Amino acid sequence: MSRPVDLDLLPEHAEVGKGGRLTIAGVDVLDLCEEHGTPVFVYDEQHIRNRCREAVAAFGADVAYASKAFFCTEMARVAHEEGMRIDVSTGGELFVALHAGVAPERLVLHGNNKSDAELAMALDAGVGRIVVDSFDELDRLERLCEARNARPAVLVRITPGVEAHTHEYVMTGQDDSKFGFGLASGDAEKAVGRLLGAPSGPELVGVHAHIGSQIFALDSFAKAVEAIAPFFSTLGVSELCIGGGLGVGYVEGEPTPSFEGWARAVRAAAADAGIPAGVSLSAEPGRAIVAAAAITCYTVGTIKDIPGIRTYVSVDGGMSDNPRPVLYGSGYEAFLPRETAASRPRTVTVVGKHCESGDVIVRDAAVPEDLAVGDILVTPVTGAYGHSMASNYNKVPRPPVVWVRDGAARVVVRRETFEDLVSRDC
Ligand code: LLP
Repeated sequence: MSRPVDLDLLPEHAEVGKGGRLTIAGVDVLDLCEEHGTPVFVYDEQHIRNRCREAVAAFGADVAYASKAFFCTEMARVAHEEGMRIDVSTGGELFVALHAGVAPERLVLHGNNKSDAELAMALDAGVGRIVVDSFDELDRLERLCEARNARPAVLVRITPGVEAHTHEYVMTGQDDSKFGFGLASGDAEKAVGRLLGAPSGPELVGVHAHIGSQIFALDSFAKAVEAIAPFFSTLGVSELCIGGGLGVGYVEGEPTPSFEGWARAVRAAAADAGIPAGVSLSAEPGRAIVAAAAITCYTVGTIKDIPGIRTYVSVDGGMSDNPRPVLYGSGYEAFLPRETAASRPRTVTVVGKHCESGDVIVRDAAVPEDLAVGDILVTPVTGAYGHSMASNYNKVPRPPVVWVRDGAARVVVRRETFEDLVSRDC
């Protein structure tokens, strides 16, 4: 493969500028690297805003941004400003959202093991929805509600017994799952039975199901709706959330389905299954909002050619800023922003600086012939589950997050420093 990188994989406002240099929202990426150093995550802010708007247009105001995909104070503000609810699944995510000033009623609390402290924090803040995941959680929630005389709106998370076509680690809708109440086992029925009869405490307003992540086949969602419908229709509740999971193209030739198409498929399945038109059908996308909004820029430090075997190109980040290749075998593209549209006839393996052989970022990456030490190398579509799953492995400080918009760049998460690395040591 020697084709240039597919520009459709880049953020919406990426352009090939002077001399082939990459710009995003009018900001020269090489200049930005010079100023902020590498590795650095660069996000196209308007791209994020546009995806949020599309999600709201497709699903309505109940649609939530799944903060686990990428979160920081500014991301919380922007998703909120653009009209999305925000799904938080831990006390930490809840804290960030509240810190950002998100209206608590626009928050949805998730989690398969919510602690007393997390539930109390959510009740005291007044979050809009709590998605109940287990009988133990129901026990805790009822007790905490009684102490506060609280009646929070809850959805029951069910596992509809649908296997989405995706990586096993991110499949969640099957019967054998740590999440939610099984439909097949009768647990879902038991859970709603307990809630529907109760005059006080948690109030059942809807049902939730999340079948997995990075799903391209829209009929997987339709199957889930079909499986849930008979159960849902007996409850007389008004909200059905189909979770997140819409797939995103990471490499050439992988399509990215639209929010509109996703919503259409879900609505059609709901109508076919007899779910009344007045029911609010919503979703909870994370990846599809932020993945393609960002690129990661690295500096090439070492090139090791093993004749007849492989060429290793080592960059200054690795599995600490992008664990997805190691965890899921995920593929990425690579290119040089100094000559964005150059053909890429050379095959190399892009690796990180961590002390293990598994620390691969792109196996068999197509790169330009003249790739050299000192080059800035970019991997696109790194806006989801990169920064959010970043670690300090080998005490590598986590990269900054820089947002660009209308010709200007601003740091929304600063680079970690060596001092940060010892700041919690006692
Ligand atoms: N709602 C729930 C309840 C979830 O568990 C998730 C993702 C989402 C929504 C958002 O899913 P999305 O639209 O982003 O696919 N680290 C993995 C993905 C894990 C997804 C976890 N849950 C990866 O990098 O591929």
